[in-house]
Amino acid sequence: MKIVVTGGAGFIGGNFVYYLLKNHPDDQVICIDSLTYAGNMATLEEALKNPNFFFEKADIADREAIYGIFEKYSPDIIVNFAAESHVDRSIENPEIFLKTNIIGTSVLLDACRKYGITRYHQVSTDEVYGDLPLDRPDLFFTEETPIHTSSPYSSSKAGADLLVLAYHRTFGLPVTVSRCSNNYGPYHFPEKLIPLMIINTLNGKPLPVYGKGENIRDWLYVEDHCSAIDKIIRNGRVGEVYNIGGHNEKTNIYVVKKILELLGKDESNITYVTDRPGHDMRYAIDPTKIHNELGWLPETSFDEGIKKTVEWYLKNQDWWQPIIDGEYQKYYENHYGKK
Ligand code: NAD
Ligand code: DAU
Repeated sequence: MKIVVTGGAGFIGGNFVYYLLKNHPDDQVICIDSLTYAGNMATLEEALKNPNFFFEKADIADREAIYGIFEKYSPDIIVNFAAESHVDRSIENPEIFLKTNIIGTSVLLDACRKYGITRYHQVSTDEVYGDLPLDRPDLFFTEETPIHTSSPYSSSKAGADLLVLAYHRTFGLPVTVSRCSNNYGPYHFPEKLIPLMIINTLNGKPLPVYGKGENIRDWLYVEDHCSAIDKIIRNGRVGEVYNIGGHNEKTNIYVVKKILELLGKDESNITYVTDRPGHDMRYAIDPTKIHNELGWLPETSFDEGIKKTVEWYLKNQDWWQPIIDGEYQKYYENHYGKK
């Protein structure tokens, strides 16, 4: 099987590359990534030593480049992780989100029609469902929950989802879509909550908690996300949407305090800052469908996963230090300086 992984130099795509190389050693894995600020070749250092791994630097919105890659490899399966993925950046500058997340997806879908594939899989997010109120812990997102987005990021992901499903209905393209909750684990870019709090704690910097820190996210260890996608691309029903999540709901302030506890630090650096505009209150996935149809269950509890993650950042400073020394510094000062 030849599997294209777009966005494989990013956080989840990189973990998925390693998941495939380990669990399906006979498959060939072709990574397409344009190496934006969030893409990092250091993440793929080990993969590049594997003869079944190939890397192509290209923008998914560049039709000519994408068609050229499809012609060169004749892939069977496409798994599209490539995206602008950070909500805060989408509030600052929405346009690139529309280009990559919607136009990029449309180019990939057209390439799939032109060259023929057995499966196109769209990696989407629970954010397309909007949010749930804090006082209704009985409510969860199911695949039937209406699309109701809050940010330019989630709107662009919802637009892409609808396009993917339309290519199935109109052109009969064999597609699947997965909508996952918040991931955490190795290779997570430092702008996101968990790596940011770990790295700032290690550097003795303030820990910027938005609003009151009461917002809830449903955390999933990244390897569990990878195993779910792997099951969907091999055994999932064409034309279907699958929610992915493991009932690990935590408030942001709980997560920050847990990181401090694991690193043996007190809470004096916690700083409550201006809230994110349009900030979603609570995400919570109902994973019944993927469990019943594909037998998927997450294997890593939050306590175990967060411990492994903190240990990974302690051991891999040479991965994250060059990131925070570069362009990221400007983003950080501009974003948090205003808060
Ligand atoms: P990320 O920002 O860490 O990585 C994105 C990758 O895509 C980077 O390597 C980047 O270089 C690449 N990329 C961006 N624009 C591109 C373009 N135009 N052409 C080619 N490559 C491009 O993102 P992530 O957190 O790994 O998320 C991956 C996917 O999973 C996204 O589609 C995101 O919406 C989805 N998702 C993420 C989470 C999460 O918690 N991180 C949860 C659910 C779904
Ligand atoms: O739910 C899935 C989504 O999870 C993915 O689709 C997105 O790609 C991914 O980035 C993530 O979105 P969030 O907005 O939930 O993740 P983020 O890490 O940016 O923020 C998590 C929570 O922490 C959120 O409530 C905002 C808060 N936060 C975040 C940062 C960066 C803070 O309080 N302080 C911060 O500095």
